[in-house]
Amino acid sequence: MAPVTSLTASVHQRLADALASALPEADGVDPLLRRSDRADFQANGILALAKKAKANPRELATQVVARVESGEVIKEIEVSGPGFLNITLTDRAITENLAARYADAESRLGVPFAEHPGTTVIDYAQPNVAKEMHVGHLRSAVIGDAVVQILEFTGENVVRRHHIGDWGTQFGMLIQYLDEHPHELDHKEAGDDLQASGEAAMSNLDRLYKTARKLFDADEEFKTRARRRVVDLQAGDPATLAAWQKFVDESKLYFFSVFEKLDMEIRDADIVGESGYNDMLAETCRLLEESGVAVRSEGALCVFFDDVKGPDGNPVPLIVQKSDGGYGYAATDLSAIRDRVLNLKSDTLIYVVDARQSLHFKMVFETARRAGWLNDGVKLRQLAFGTVLGKDGKPFKTREGETIRLVDLLDEAIDRATAVVREKAEKVGLTEQEIVENGRYVGVGAVKYADLSTSAVRDYKFDLDQMVSLNGDTSVYLQYAYARIQSILRKAGEATPAAHPELELAAAERALGLHLDQFGETLAEVAESYEPHKLAAYLFKLATLLTTFYDQCLVLKAETPEQVENRLFLVDLTARTLHQGMALLGIRTPDKL
Ligand code: ARG
Repeated sequence: MAPVTSLTASVHQRLADALASALPEADGVDPLLRRSDRADFQANGILALAKKAKANPRELATQVVARVESGEVIKEIEVSGPGFLNITLTDRAITENLAARYADAESRLGVPFAEHPGTTVIDYAQPNVAKEMHVGHLRSAVIGDAVVQILEFTGENVVRRHHIGDWGTQFGMLIQYLDEHPHELDHKEAGDDLQASGEAAMSNLDRLYKTARKLFDADEEFKTRARRRVVDLQAGDPATLAAWQKFVDESKLYFFSVFEKLDMEIRDADIVGESGYNDMLAETCRLLEESGVAVRSEGALCVFFDDVKGPDGNPVPLIVQKSDGGYGYAATDLSAIRDRVLNLKSDTLIYVVDARQSLHFKMVFETARRAGWLNDGVKLRQLAFGTVLGKDGKPFKTREGETIRLVDLLDEAIDRATAVVREKAEKVGLTEQEIVENGRYVGVGAVKYADLSTSAVRDYKFDLDQMVSLNGDTSVYLQYAYARIQSILRKAGEATPAAHPELELAAAERALGLHLDQFGETLAEVAESYEPHKLAAYLFKLATLLTTFYDQCLVLKAETPEQVENRLFLVDLTARTLHQGMALLGIRTPDKL
């Protein structure tokens, strides 16, 4: 099945051709085509062009109109205002284009693959070993997963990297304690339920961390033994490494259970944490020092930047190696860049990390550039995201001022959503099992959608009441739009969806149809700019256009059997588009809600 050229693209092409033939210097100039309330489209590009060519804009517009072939696709084109073009399409062209999308056997809705796919390494969902996941870890996972799905849909080769925090001095204390109390990590009765074993794993780690810390603070001898353990760990002592591995494994059990709750696939092979680059650190430092990119300053290996200064005006360096010989976060990230460019052969590196780490990434990226590790054309980009705020507009904390555990937050969202689902369950005919399942999809969807529907760099308020509301820009609203279509399709009986290009379309049908036709362009834009919120906005608009359509057009009781079939086809295509779009955001669309 060939990809479908959108109507916007074909009108654009016709206008550009007419423009170039009316005015040779207009070759390659964008006619600036937009959806419009007055007609289907308006083109505004002629104004600026006429000004540049010292021509009369209305005259130029008239010449363009004379050169545009109208007929199959364009029904009407006219000059308006100072030199705009208003363009109306034929109903047939709209229905035929949508029918081609509907027929796409690969169920890509006619969306083409990117012309030049590359390899992108994306660093996201990076919790820390032996620590609980909190609300701050939500955004990286949710945004990262959406970007992965969207890029893969365009045909990009995507390598996922979960850069978990699994190395550092705190492990000395933990390992030493575990060594002295070997059974502390044994599972009691976790069974093989992922969730149960994940929770058990976390409570084990939590208990262990707290007791080890207490001992560390109170007992000088333990402190000495713990410090020695850090040295052993860094030197690669086998017994110490084995103990460390136990922590990592235990934490992964816990991570997997949280990601499972988030309805997100995280693969073990993609978890390459900080420790994964240990073998490269010394070389990274040597290369930086030999090339002069990094210099020794008070014993530490540092990279300086003209534009990075502290409050006292003194330069703040990126410290690659501390004066005691220890490697920091920067050394790991720089080694990861070398690995991702040289070994994984990626041409784009994305980091979905909190905006508070932006300075770190700015310095790391600049260092890699100076060191010559970015072969031509390698693109580095931090997708920085803002903070999750409470209803009061302050960073989201418990009443006691503690950070909120991600699991608690998800559980609460699921509880709320399940209540919402239960209210309508009888009417819709849901079994208890379906209520529970849908409650999860609605709750987790609400959390993801709230995160994905605002631009990532902005902070957003975590407000569950708003998130599970049936009205407004929420995932539930979109999920209901989808389920409502499924219910209509179930009730259709003998009537089946089928396109009838000969039929005249009502205004609400045209609006819905033209928006459906823009799915592929929206995705291309979203993939280019890494902005999933634009996909969310597209889907929300789609659902509102569907609502208007229902208000104005009967579906099953339409006038003729052909009209019933055509409207069923239109809503079914809407459902498929909603389903595909939501899936790319990591959100499920249950059939009955
Ligand atoms: N583990 C870190 C944190 O919790 C995030 C890691 C980000 N990725 C990276 N390559 N530095 O803050």
